[in-house]
Amino acid sequence: MSKKAIGIDIGGTGIKGAVVNVKTGELVGDRVRYETPEGGRPQDIAEVVQKLIGELKNAKPHHTVGICFPAVVQHGRTMSAANVSKEWIGLDADALFTQELGRSVHVVNDADAAGYAEIKFGAGRSKPGLVIMTTLGTGIGTALFMDGKLVPNAELGHLEIDGVDYETKASFAAKERENLDWPAWIERLHKYYSTLERLFSPDLIIIGGGVSKEHENFLPHLGLKATVLPALKRNNAGILGAAALAKKEYKA
Ligand code: BGC
Repeated sequence: MSKKAIGIDIGGTGIKGAVVNVKTGELVGDRVRYETPEGGRPQDIAEVVQKLIGELKNAKPHHTVGICFPAVVQHGRTMSAANVSKEWIGLDADALFTQELGRSVHVVNDADAAGYAEIKFGAGRSKPGLVIMTTLGTGIGTALFMDGKLVPNAELGHLEIDGVDYETKASFAAKERENLDWPAWIERLHKYYSTLERLFSPDLIIIGGGVSKEHENFLPHLGLKATVLPALKRNNAGILGAAALAKKEYKA
């Protein structure tokens, strides 16, 4: 049984991929990145993914592909679309990529993939109870795990607080857009995470996304009851989790 799969992380600005050893949670060889094509349309993205895989030196024809994507993904179908073309809504993404790549493909939500990487190889490893993974980026991605098992497609970044979809206030993009300093952003993060805590009573909250490398600046100041840990897999979490989930799906 091969331990390797290909992981691809599709975002609004970039598409990253690598071959992954799904036993150890390590990349095998270099990561390749392309810009997301203008408009983020399905066929254009599928072609970039094919080109990217062609450049992965360690990719073998039998490797399964796991793809993560910023949308609700139900049984391989993308049911929403954040920062990519609306043509994805309702599309059978598994079928599109399987046809384009000529391999078995498993598409999942990006936060579910990043969370799975943390549960399997990172900050959530061997952690019992309810673990909530959150990614602070363009939006807020969330993933729920009960005793290590994923409950897919939690869209808790869109919790309505103060009458607004709160990812528009507390995401890292909101911090950048509004030029918020750390205290101002922390205030919003506290509001977001304490709401999450009131609704779910998680045992552990993991915070990922690019800004989590600066976790000393905000994480100790969130004032929450749950244990809060920074993600360990950072930029590679989506790639690792997508590959590991695909491998689990196909058990090849
Ligand atoms: C989307 C989620 C996604 C998250 C992070 C949100 O806007 O609704 O599906 O996981 O952004 O990309």
